[in-house]
Amino acid sequence: MKDDTWIDVDRYIEDLFLGSDPVLEFALKKASEAGLPSINVSPTQGKMLNLLVQMQRAQSILEIGTLGGYSTIWMARALPQAGHLITLEINELHAQVARANIENAGLSDKVTVTLGPAAESLEKLISQGAGPFDFVFIDADKPGNPDYFRLAMKLTRPGSVIVVDNVIRDGAVVQADATDPAVIGTRELNRLVAAETTVSATQIQTVGSKGYDGFALIVVQDG
Ligand code: SAH
Ligand code: DHB
Ligand code: MG
Repeated sequence: MKDDTWIDVDRYIEDLFLGSDPVLEFALKKASEAGLPSINVSPTQGKMLNLLVQMQRAQSILEIGTLGGYSTIWMARALPQAGHLITLEINELHAQVARANIENAGLSDKVTVTLGPAAESLEKLISQGAGPFDFVFIDADKPGNPDYFRLAMKLTRPGSVIVVDNVIRDGAVVQADATDPAVIGTRELNRLVAAETTVSATQIQTVGSKGYDGFALIVVQDG
């Protein structure tokens, strides 16, 4: 589902508030040339992540699902001088493209791309005593979402923000009898979030150049 009007309006918003951005355009071009799928957040969504990181005054960010580093660059740009972002990626080529794009963006000193299955990398971060992270962006494989949320809760603190991408997916999320593992994963994530007494959450449905989808917004509360 992708309405032409949604795309026109996204372009209108981009022209008004984002302007041209050679570094991010280069990152998308490199990702596309390397054969990476075009499933990065849209420019307006990237800017939204950047603004959320600013609102949170985040100094530490954890990203699950790097791809070519597009969302990574948007978020890392909002970090203060001493800020840091760790991004987790399972695919070696994706990690390689992301590292080059992050370098080109001048963000290599702030960003670490960690190669491996996210659940394993998260367990390792927990055992190393990493965190708490101020801001978490979950955007990897959707069947992994329940695990990523559970593990993210161990790497955050009251006041931390967790954002999850792709929680609506053309409205498929309402299918209680879904067989698509991505929908099942998102519905299980939602059940966990709803049952978790130490978070406050909502979801925002979105339309635009990426079609009809949405974000989960979660704030960790005092336990
Ligand atoms: N956040 C990116 C898009 C990420 S796409 C952006 O908006 O620019 C999802 C990424 O998650 C892909 O690169 C995919 O390789 C990665 N991924 C899939 N399964 C994973 C897993 N189990 N662990 C870590 N990364 C995974
Ligand atoms: C897909 C994954 C994403 O993270 C996204 O934003 C859009 C699509 C996918 O796997 O199809
Ligand atoms: Mg996504």
